[in-house]
Amino acid sequence: MSKQRILSGVQPTGNLHLGNYLGAIRNWVEAQQQYDNYFCVVDLHAITVPHNPATLAADTYAIAALYLACGIDLSYSTIFVQSHVSAHSELAWLLNCITPLNWLERMIQFKEKAIKQGENVSVGLLDYPVLMAADILLYDADLVPVGEDQKQHIELTRDIAIRINDRFGRKDDPVLKLPKPLIRKEGARVMSLTDGTKKMSKSDPSEMSRIELLDPPEAIAKKIKRCKTDTVKGLEFDNPERPECHNLLNLYTILAQKSKEEVATECQEMGWGQFKPLLTETVTGAIAPIQAKYKEIASDKGYLESVLKEGKEKAEESANRILSRVKDALGFSHAL
Ligand code: AMP
Ligand code: TRP
Repeated sequence: MSKQRILSGVQPTGNLHLGNYLGAIRNWVEAQQQYDNYFCVVDLHAITVPHNPATLAADTYAIAALYLACGIDLSYSTIFVQSHVSAHSELAWLLNCITPLNWLERMIQFKEKAIKQGENVSVGLLDYPVLMAADILLYDADLVPVGEDQKQHIELTRDIAIRINDRFGRKDDPVLKLPKPLIRKEGARVMSLTDGTKKMSKSDPSEMSRIELLDPPEAIAKKIKRCKTDTVKGLEFDNPERPECHNLLNLYTILAQKSKEEVATECQEMGWGQFKPLLTETVTGAIAPIQAKYKEIASDKGYLESVLKEGKEKAEESANRILSRVKDALGFSHAL
């Protein structure tokens, strides 16, 4: 039996933080041998909010280098850039024409981001989940490993695929494959360091709210030293009145590779003065190997270019085939 197919991606907007790593990339790396994997850098998504043209290309390369640095292995996985494979934009258009507007207006992430953009909301921001559906459907992906915040977008992808299949496919020969989200419980929602009720996010204006994978140890120490805590002595999980405490213990549990029970016992009598240095050391130690590998890869642009060129070619094989399948189903004439 052939392996199940995985597709996922991250936007090249700012550096990756612990939420991206624990919610998404670490899970890609851990499961990659079991699957046939496609990981893209979704640069077309990055321009749905105002962006800087002077840094887009470099940011895109940096994310691809971070994929490799985090342990994505090219013998199991293909890494490519979304905008290099034009089928993504083209399928997004076709899907746009069968997606009801009110499905998009309901998306939580759109509503949240639209508030932040004020008057300046682009059509692209509303359409973002349709492009994401195209990303997934072009690869006949079985599973999409993401953080909890993306679940609604994957449900929308399924709804769009079902609509295409109902209208344009035969029962025994569907046009598109229905994907499922793959969301791991632990790390699926890493919270902000400055507010334990908000998720850690690239778009938070305060850098103190997130730990980035490329932060030097001094920055990590400073962020953890100043992060929001409380005055209660003894640390505990799952107390709704102590969201920061839960989040920090959770980070420690995952990165120290301990069990929740172990950490609950270890920290039950601890104060913040004792816990914070321990967390700092654990975070720094866990990401040091990623930083070292990143430096090596980022210094060899030729290598990264060759990886992305090969990735584009491999991605196109699948994407162009499935795009043709959709165009045929919709009744388009063939180019001569
Ligand atoms: P983005 O930063 O929006 O490009 O997200 C890239 C990936 O990281 C997606 O799979 C998200 O679900 C995941 N992700 C982003 N922020 C967090 C967070 N705070 N906790 C867990 N996963 C996250
Ligand atoms: N919307 C995703 C995010 O913000 C990024 C993304 C775009 C994606 N296309 C995708 C994730 C396809 C998984 C599969 O995290």
